[in-house]
Amino acid sequence: MCGIFGAVFAERPKSPLGEMLTMALHRLEYRGYDSAGVAVADGGVIVVRKDAGKVAEVSARHGFRSLNGIAGIAHTRWATHGRPSRENAHPHLDCTGTIAVAHNGIVENYAELREELEMRGHAFRSETDTEVVAHLIEEYRRQGLDAFAAFKRAVARLRGAYAIAVIDAGSPAAIYFARNLSPLVIGLGDGFNVIASDIPALLDFTRRVVVVRDGECGYITPTAVYIEHDGVPQDVSLRVEEIPWTAEMASKGGYPHFMLKEIYEQPESLALTIAGLEWPRLETAASALLSARGVYVVGAGSSYHAGLVLAHLLWRVRIPSMPIVAAECASYENLFDRGDVAIAISQSGETIDTIKAVRVMKGRGVRVIAVTNVVGSTVARECDAVIYTRAGPEIGVAATKTFTTQVAVLSALYISVMRLVGADTAERERELKMLPELARRTIEGAAGTVRDVARRIKGKASAYYLGRGLSVPVAMEGALKLKEVAYLHAEAYPAGEMKHGPIALVEKGFPVVFVLSDPLTREKTLNNVAEVRARGAYTIGTVPAGSDAARALDAAIRVPDAGEVASPALHVIPLQMLAYFVAVERGLDPDRPRNLAKTVTVE
Ligand code: G6P
Repeated sequence: MCGIFGAVFAERPKSPLGEMLTMALHRLEYRGYDSAGVAVADGGVIVVRKDAGKVAEVSARHGFRSLNGIAGIAHTRWATHGRPSRENAHPHLDCTGTIAVAHNGIVENYAELREELEMRGHAFRSETDTEVVAHLIEEYRRQGLDAFAAFKRAVARLRGAYAIAVIDAGSPAAIYFARNLSPLVIGLGDGFNVIASDIPALLDFTRRVVVVRDGECGYITPTAVYIEHDGVPQDVSLRVEEIPWTAEMASKGGYPHFMLKEIYEQPESLALTIAGLEWPRLETAASALLSARGVYVVGAGSSYHAGLVLAHLLWRVRIPSMPIVAAECASYENLFDRGDVAIAISQSGETIDTIKAVRVMKGRGVRVIAVTNVVGSTVARECDAVIYTRAGPEIGVAATKTFTTQVAVLSALYISVMRLVGADTAERERELKMLPELARRTIEGAAGTVRDVARRIKGKASAYYLGRGLSVPVAMEGALKLKEVAYLHAEAYPAGEMKHGPIALVEKGFPVVFVLSDPLTREKTLNNVAEVRARGAYTIGTVPAGSDAARALDAAIRVPDAGEVASPALHVIPLQMLAYFVAVERGLDPDRPRNLAKTVTVE
């Protein structure tokens, strides 16, 4: 959903600034990859190079790396207003070419601002909402304001979501920034400072960060950070955090794609997450769930699916909970009340739908507990309590390790609830501890069969993913992965519902993937296997090693035996792998699925 970066030095760095900007663009590319650009301030002028296309092509074609200067900004774009083209690529300039802007988000009132600025004689070069920011700053500069004052005046005119980085040739030793909803993080370097949309883009340069909060604006110079909120200067020294992630964690490390690397990292990320569980915190959350008037589970995409797993587990301990897609939360506003508790799940903590959902619920007095992977993220900050997953940075657009770590954390929450109601949890605790090792065995055992299945189905147009009970969210997550990275239409259904319509599509060779993770419903699901097989379907299933369900299927992917705590995370792994290998078989890049962005910061 667009990535922005900026760096400022006291003097021209030895290795050109363009090198650093390009490196950061590669890190940010997963946030948007239809165009890329850089702008560098040097000796009172700004040089901009930008174009439509991937970072590697555009940066090579336009010689990004050789650019030098004391301050620069960079941008990777995920188009919202205006098709991907050179003109619409960021950074955008004002009329004088001395103010450059990179922006992530949407300026909702851009049309009226543009009209006003055009009437004042400003000439626009692009169709974007962002360009108004450059001209607005220019307008206030013309009126005699200094760079920061003009920047602030311009930002005050904007409505919508934004993270903005600006360089101004008239005051080149600074990068001006502002944030509303879209994420922004400052990195503190030695003799330089940087700013970026997210932490992975900073890790090559520093691990000391300050998260910019909503409504804040300010500037970085090579040696200082200035932040204010509503005109009030903020004490930044108290907000410096040391990030435990390394640059190596955010690189491919020998894998052809981030998605595959992140699938293979799951045993480790699960181990870190489980070892890092803060049980007293979970217990507090569990007791809130038990005494709540109503319980809601909210998230988007894969995080919603993780939420469905939790909702299902809570039903098993007789806590009625309502899963809600984050973007739909406002429609249920009347339902929320004081005494309610919600679990808000977001790996990035920056998905705008989830942030808005949290605000709607908090506005009605709901106590909201966050489950997120990013320390200091908006969702983490705005909720009443936070439970962290420790998946490390996830770069592949399709969630993999962040999903399974969410499920692990939510299963731990379920165990905490069980403990409070006096149930014996020893078996489930053992299972949770075993999860990393079981995940490792799942990956090892599944690879061969999954590749064969991928070859079999790569040419198909459509597939079903079916399961019952606790397997339904797993099937939904599997289908989502296939759609996202392999562009193969996939639909998930509760297996019993299939005969009420979907079965009409089943014909010879139609792929149907069965998730047989839930021991309580496995027998019944096998009846559905027989039904579609009788109609010629190509049946694939994730099958617990100890069950004889494999015989009922055309292709069985063996998964270690486990109960309700480990099974959802384990059974989703072969489905992630299947989506990955189908994408590769189809010649697609699973790390950069078209039209998708890792963190969606627009509604
Ligand atoms: C985007 C991503 C999905 C992700 C969803 C929620 O749509 O493409 O992979 O599941 O956002 O993201 P979050 O960071 O809130 O978990």
